[in-house]
Amino acid sequence: MLQRPRGTRDFLPDEMEARREIEGRMREAARRFGYGQVRTPVFEELELFTLRSGPGIVNEMYAFEDKGGRALSLRPELTAPVLRLYVNEARVLPKPLRWYYFDDCFRYERPQKGRYRQFWQFGAELIGADTAMADAEVILLADAALRAAGVEFELKVGHLALLRSLLADLEEGPRRAVMALLDKREFGALSALLGELGRPDLADPLGALVGATTLDEAFSVTGPLAEEARLRELVDLLDAAGLRYTLNFGIVRGLDYYTGMVFEGFAPNLGAENQIVGGGAYRLAHLFGGEDTPSCGFAIGFDRVMVALGAVALPRQRTVAVLSTPEGASAALRAASAFREAGLRTEVDLSGRGLGTQLARASRTADFAVLVGAREAEAGVVAIKDLASGVQETLPLGAAVIRAAGREVDGPGAR
Ligand code: HAM
Repeated sequence: MLQRPRGTRDFLPDEMEARREIEGRMREAARRFGYGQVRTPVFEELELFTLRSGPGIVNEMYAFEDKGGRALSLRPELTAPVLRLYVNEARVLPKPLRWYYFDDCFRYERPQKGRYRQFWQFGAELIGADTAMADAEVILLADAALRAAGVEFELKVGHLALLRSLLADLEEGPRRAVMALLDKREFGALSALLGELGRPDLADPLGALVGATTLDEAFSVTGPLAEEARLRELVDLLDAAGLRYTLNFGIVRGLDYYTGMVFEGFAPNLGAENQIVGGGAYRLAHLFGGEDTPSCGFAIGFDRVMVALGAVALPRQRTVAVLSTPEGASAALRAASAFREAGLRTEVDLSGRGLGTQLARASRTADFAVLVGAREAEAGVVAIKDLASGVQETLPLGAAVIRAAGREVDGPGAR
């Protein structure tokens, strides 16, 4: 038997319904913030990601050569594609641009719970705004989308300038290595590395910075920095908005394009892969041939949100089962379309079995059974049975539709 590729999943209708419900709530959050949806191709030129996304993600890419010899890759994330789209198509649009996306990404990672090779991101990019208020808006949208989804999470907000100032005199390679260990919170390996680099003196300030929970504590480690005023303004805005979050200056982010504010969110019930959102301020447009454009965004790991939520309670859909004998078949299809036009979920029994068998099956799945035999077809009526109360009536089609809908309905069903 053929199996789906490792790290991918299939989704059955019940699961898709739950996913669409949660997706809809996140879309609604984006709409309320004035963000419009964009969509980019599933694959891009490989170079789009090698330019600035950083070695971590590049090593995980589904890269391939097409039949024309072009170097391409499935998208591992959407920020670079969306900024490419901005440079290609939207540079002249009035800024800021408020865009969101809901799409699948591909990373060749070792699969485990909450970590897949194909996964979905719900994300947003705010392009062309460069204020503390812009940073705040992006964080507040991420928070609103996650709260709309109903998931429990903790937000951590930081800023790369502080860590970078401590590591300013390290070469690029060692600095990356130090930041990667900090990102993974591997403090033992970190102090070993600092020893090897001949910089054991960095261990204490790094520890103090990563442990700082207030701006005063953090800046007492680094000394004054140009970014301080803006960061203080951001914190004031987030506090005034009533956001629940903690400051954390150990946030490094796995991707290389971030330039300032960074934030992450964690779902406490997820185990190892508990990061459900990541984002921050970055610059990419100038690398893709546009002008240097300040941007800020985030992506929520939609699959992790679904794992964290567990079972999603969905509103039950009222269901009508249309049952018929061979003589009633065409009247049954007409009846079904009247119920559907009234917005009711309507399933036609296709089994060709006797009405008794059809009714037994309907009582397990439907709220109303509509029976159309030779007699009903001839008289232009249907028999409608309320499967909860057991009450059965013979009614003209329009009246039966109103009975099943529980209200007056518009459209042909009512006539
Ligand atoms: P990221 O942190 O690489 O950031 O991914 C964002 C989120 O996608 C993660 O927090 C996680 O929830 C989810 N995710 C990542 N890898 C997987 C996986 N293999 N399986 C399931 N979920 C996964 C970005 O992608 C940036 N583009 C975010 C951003 C937007 N920054 C600015 N704008």
